[in-house]
Amino acid sequence: MGKGTIPKDFIEQLLAQTDIVQVINQRVPLKKAGKNYVACCPFHKEKTPSFNVNPFKQFYHCFGCGASGDAIRFLQEYDGLSFTDAVEALAQQAGLTVPYRQLTPQQRQQQEKQATLYEVLAQAARFYRLQLRDHPQAEVAKAYLKHRGLTSQIAKTYYLGYAPPGWDSLRAVFHPMSQYEPLLIEAGLRVPKAEHSGSYDRFRNRIIFPIRDVRGQVVGFGGRVLADGDKPKYLNSPENPLFHKSQVLYGLYELLQRRDRYDHIIVVEGYMDVIALAQHGFGNVVATLGTAVTAAHLDQLYRHVDRLVFSFDGDAAGLQAAWKAVALLLPNLTEHQSAQFLLLPTGEDPDSLVRQQGAEALRQRIAQAPMLVEFVIQQLQAQLAVPLSEQEGRRHFLAAVTPWLKLARGWYQAALLEQAAGLLGLRPWQLARQLDIYVPLASNTPARLSSQSKAPPVLTLAHRIVRHLLYAPQWAAELFSDKDLPYLRQLEDAGGPLLAQVVEALLQGEDVEQIEAQLQAQGQQLVLQALRQLPLPESEAMRRAEFEGLLQRLLEQHALAHTQDLKTLMALKKPR
Ligand code: UTP
Ligand code: MN
Repeated sequence: MGKGTIPKDFIEQLLAQTDIVQVINQRVPLKKAGKNYVACCPFHKEKTPSFNVNPFKQFYHCFGCGASGDAIRFLQEYDGLSFTDAVEALAQQAGLTVPYRQLTPQQRQQQEKQATLYEVLAQAARFYRLQLRDHPQAEVAKAYLKHRGLTSQIAKTYYLGYAPPGWDSLRAVFHPMSQYEPLLIEAGLRVPKAEHSGSYDRFRNRIIFPIRDVRGQVVGFGGRVLADGDKPKYLNSPENPLFHKSQVLYGLYELLQRRDRYDHIIVVEGYMDVIALAQHGFGNVVATLGTAVTAAHLDQLYRHVDRLVFSFDGDAAGLQAAWKAVALLLPNLTEHQSAQFLLLPTGEDPDSLVRQQGAEALRQRIAQAPMLVEFVIQQLQAQLAVPLSEQEGRRHFLAAVTPWLKLARGWYQAALLEQAAGLLGLRPWQLARQLDIYVPLASNTPARLSSQSKAPPVLTLAHRIVRHLLYAPQWAAELFSDKDLPYLRQLEDAGGPLLAQVVEALLQGEDVEQIEAQLQAQGQQLVLQALRQLPLPESEAMRRAEFEGLLQRLLEQHALAHTQDLKTLMALKKPR
């Protein structure tokens, strides 16, 4: 920190002398697959490898979660290093010295201020932690934590502390106070006095919950009163240059520290919920900090798991929070990602529930909590004054579901359409046409939640199947017959017609060049081009596995949009 900036050409030189395959392989064992290397992605949970490392481009890319970058980026993400530290680490391996360029005075000032802000926050956290152990009045705090069912071990994991009573306890650590005051005020630890000069401690006689970023650095605090009636119950640090509530999740650092593999993360509202659930064996819990869930939160969480379980109060405020989450999820989730909604009875929260009914009861509630689409349908239906069996009820339901249908994308749009149409007594395509929405049934390129999509040509499942067939045309006759063509033609996948055309041509014995020439002539150059750029696994076995997986998924999606047609579809020859 504070050494200056690193010139661009040094970064380029460093990357040229670094082998990304070696860097990643030291951390995530890679397997060779043709020209590339693959592994199960370390940034999201998956069972089949979609994490690719390209030694020629010196780049990694995950087709599952979209994580991508060079060796520096990988170290930042995987080892949790800052950019500078990642560069230092690689330079050391390459035997190079990082030539820092002098900072402008302003840049230097800015960097030093950030560094000292971190230090001030860390020192305060340490102070509060020690006070919980040593301060004579901390007995009440310890008794309170015990009464909430928490052990000292869990208090240690979350680095809980105690802010002593009195206006100037922090003087014990930060002296002379006049020197530290501006920083402490910026960090939110001291509050400037309104009329006089000077300041006083923000947190007094409170249990302290340090808020850490994913690197484990303290960026802010929450402080809870010791007596339940006292107000305000919680005080939180105001935002500071290091602390943005819309981006931080309480408990995420501690979750990642456990290095356990979770298949879902529970998102709750309160500090105490995180800690109480951890105490009951749920290590996979995070909390938003008194704000609504944001795209940045979701982006971070879906890097680690494919399923989130949102726990909200069952009251009006909780429902409103749930709908805010729905609005972020419907347009952004891919078919592999899911969300569940656990609405608790009014007056309960996860902490009270797990303490009264135990871990197993909570686990069961989670298992039964509705999934995203189910939740939307259930809630909209519950709002109806007139039942769906009456025309007026259906009209109201249609009006209520329309904005959500238009907001949703990809698999979730198709699924919501299917469900809504079923309730309205329509076929999905009828409802889609009525609302003038176009629902492609496959979205294989997961959009990162907060990053802008770069709008590559959208290749659907059917397109990707075509890609395989053009590479291994002999598979067409093996898996399809003329009888399948009508079904292929009516696939509700943007690539459906193309797939039908290619299968038909292959069954008639045309060769790949002929087919490609035909497609060119039909003005399909762009699709062809995009198809050729789709990477294929080099080994025959892996290509076959991917091909069969795609076919399976296409069948399932088609079945979803046409439940009525399920039987006929199953007759469509299934790959083993
Ligand atoms: P809760 O009141 O549900 O908090 O508020 P909790 O964590 O369950 O606390 P206990 O069980 O009463 O000890 C949820 C969250 O809303 C914010 C805090 O982030 C809290 O964890 N909040 C709540 C405040 O910021 N200030 C308040 O006065 C109350
Ligand atoms: Mn609570």
